[in-house]
Amino acid sequence: MPTVTFKNLKKKIIVPEGANLRKEAHKNGISMHSGPHRYLNCFGNGMCASCRVKVVSGGENLKRKTWWEKYVLPILNPVWFFARIGNEQTLTLACQSRVMGDCEIEATPEMNLHGEPFWS
Ligand code: FES
Repeated sequence: MPTVTFKNLKKKIIVPEGANLRKEAHKNGISMHSGPHRYLNCFGNGMCASCRVKVVSGGENLKRKTWWEKYVLPILNPVWFFARIGNEQTLTLACQSRVMGDCEIEATPEMNLHGEPFWS
């Protein structure tokens, strides 16, 4: 059974192969949402982008609904559009990801809306 490591939370969970990442995290008491999104979210329908996670390693072991993340959601949800800039390969939606093997992720990654300061 695959192991999912939540690097920023220092937690590991063991999940059945093919399990939904968001559902398994919730079963183990790990929230994929921060702030008001803990209560205001789309409940795993892939619309709100509040369950986004950053894949640190093992991205090949996450079966992702990439066509939805790449083409549909950026049009429907500007938060997802801006959050993905510069993180296209590493950012994914927990509710749209199935765990096929070991992986390391960062839950509720910060959004850098302003980019890197030009003076640094
Ligand atoms: S819970 Fe809303 S996009 Fe995943």
